[in-house]
Amino acid sequence: MLNTSDKNLALELVRGTEAAVMASGRWLGRGDKNEVDRAAVEALRYMLNTVSMRGVVVIGEGEKDEAPMLFNGEALGTGEGPELDIAVDPIDGTTLMAKGLTGAISVVAAADRGSMFSPEDLFYMDKIVTGPEAADFIDIEAPVQVNIRRVAKAKNKSPEDVTVVMLNRPRNDEIRKEIQSIGARMRLIPDGDISGALTTCWRDAYSADLLLGSGGSPEAVITACAVKCLGGNMQCRPYFRNEEDESKAKARGLDRSTVLTIDDLVKGDNVFFAATGASTGDLLKGVSYRGDHIRTWSLCMRGKSGTVRYIEAIHSLKKLNRLNTVIDYSPKHPDA
Ligand code: FBP
Repeated sequence: MLNTSDKNLALELVRGTEAAVMASGRWLGRGDKNEVDRAAVEALRYMLNTVSMRGVVVIGEGEKDEAPMLFNGEALGTGEGPELDIAVDPIDGTTLMAKGLTGAISVVAAADRGSMFSPEDLFYMDKIVTGPEAADFIDIEAPVQVNIRRVAKAKNKSPEDVTVVMLNRPRNDEIRKEIQSIGARMRLIPDGDISGALTTCWRDAYSADLLLGSGGSPEAVITACAVKCLGGNMQCRPYFRNEEDESKAKARGLDRSTVLTIDDLVKGDNVFFAATGASTGDLLKGVSYRGDHIRTWSLCMRGKSGTVRYIEAIHSLKKLNRLNTVIDYSPKHPDA
């Protein structure tokens, strides 16, 4: 008999991230963040509603800047099948897309109902992420230099050979100085720390060793889902922009000393993750258009099995337009 708990939902979720980049990719470099987000959100919502699941959006990225979004608490799926928490970032890197820059992706993660941490009002978290080799050696409470040394030792290299990836933000300046003081290499990214974090779990030319610095809390939960599938490790700590942030967090028992482990961010290993490249970056190639053919590059992962799949897909614009009239994959003319 088919064991339904062995179904790999990521293989269905990926159709959502593919659709999101195919629709929003038309807005690459057009300077309009909202159109990028709107196109991605609408396509993702439509496709996720075809998946056999009873999903509830727990992480509906977008509140941060009042962009179009999938709402927290929104039901997704056909209403039959497993009960799941859903985390989405229709485009992680909307600014990158609007400016025509590299590294934007569309992501969705799913896990058992009630297993994902809900950031609520917590905008930012300090993050530390590394891949499987150094997974047991990171500690967000230890000084930056200590973490760099430990990762270097675990990976049998010198601290100067360690590459740290971090969001380029003034709030991360102190950490930047600490990284520089030990002589480690640093890759500063303008946006997109989900993708940045995942490069620490890879062993290829673009890989990094450690992600540090603060970034969005919703992105932290999504990252945790992916890092779980890849066997890496991650820890977070609340970061407060002001006293209001601090007192809101305090009311739910969180302060600067709270450490959220990867299991606090997402419990268990029944986790599914899918991502598709929107604009070409270190993790994935971006969507490309050639006449009737749209090509996408995606990543599909499952926590229980640890299987990682790369999926290159060729989509027929003509046939897709016949199949559904809801998602708009058409070219955008200057007067659109
Ligand atoms: P969005 O494109 O989804 O808005 O997020 C981009 C991003 O760079 C995330 O990858 C990161 O976690 C967050 O924004 C950082 O927030 P901020 O830009 O406010 O520092």
